[in-house]
Amino acid sequence: MTRPVSNVPKHVAIIMDGNGRWAERRHHPRVFGHIRGSAKIKPIVQEADRLGIKALTLYAFSTENWSRPETERSVLWRLLKKYLLRERDGLNEKNVRLHVIGELERLESEVRAIVEETLEMLKNNTGLQLSFAISYGSRRELVRAARRFAEDCLAGRQVPEAMDEDVMAGYLWTSDLGSLRDVDLVIRTSGEKRISNYLLWQAAYAEFSFLDLCWPDFGPEHLRAAVEEYGNRDRRFGRIKSEN
Ligand code: IPE
Ligand code: IPE
Ligand code: MG
Repeated sequence: MTRPVSNVPKHVAIIMDGNGRWAERRHHPRVFGHIRGSAKIKPIVQEADRLGIKALTLYAFSTENWSRPETERSVLWRLLKKYLLRERDGLNEKNVRLHVIGELERLESEVRAIVEETLEMLKNNTGLQLSFAISYGSRRELVRAARRFAEDCLAGRQVPEAMDEDVMAGYLWTSDLGSLRDVDLVIRTSGEKRISNYLLWQAAYAEFSFLDLCWPDFGPEHLRAAVEEYGNRDRRFGRIKSEN
C-alpha cells in the first residue's frame, strides 16, 4: 500500500521532453526515443488518476514542432494513432474524458479522424480530464482567441467592454475544462528550464518542477514525487501568506 498524498494539484501539465536525446545517448535514432516515450503515457495517466489529479494535460506536439523533418513527424503521428486506438477502451472503462487543445485542423485527415472518433467515444465520461496538446502553441491560442472575440463583436454577439479574464479564458482551447482550466503544476522532463510556448495564460500562477531525466525514463514514482513536493509549496498568489 502506498501512502496517500495530501494537497494534490488539481491540474497537472507535463512537457514530455527529451525523447531524442534519450535515444541518441544510447546510439539509437531519435524516433526510438519517441517509441519508448509513447509507452510511458499509459502508466502516467493511471498514476495521475490514482493520485486524485483531476486534469492532466500532456504536450505532445507544438506549433514549432512542425519544423522538424517529415520523417520524424510521421512517426509521432503514427504513435499518436496507435496510442489512441490501443488505449481508448481502457480509458473509457476508467471514465477518462479526452480533450485536445491545438490546431486539430492541421492534422492529416486519418489522424484527425481517429482523434475525433476518440473524443466522441469518451465525451460523456466524468473522471480524469486528459488533454493532449497537439499542434499547440500558446501564442497561437491567444491570437485565435482575440480574433474570435473580435469576430463575435462584429457579429453583435459580444461587446468590447465585456472582455475580462473569465471571458478571455472562455475563448481559449482549454475552456472545456471549466473550473479546472488553470494549471497548478507544470512538470518538464529533459533538464530544460523553459516553457516552450505551453499554456502561458493557464499556468500564470502554476508551480514548476524541472526534472533532469528524459521522458522515456519518467515513471509513476517521479510523478508522485513531484506531486508530493508540490504539496509543500507555499502558493501565495501575490499575497503575504497563503492563508489570507
Ligand atoms: C519530446 O522530445 C517530444 C516532442 C517534442 C515531440 P524531443 O523530441 O524534443 O527530444 P529532445 O528534446 O530533442 O531530446
Ligand atoms: C516542447 O519540447 C514540445 C513538446 C514536448 C511536445 P521541444 O523539444 O519542442 O521544445 P524546445 O525546442 O526544446 O524549446
Ligand atoms: Mg525537446
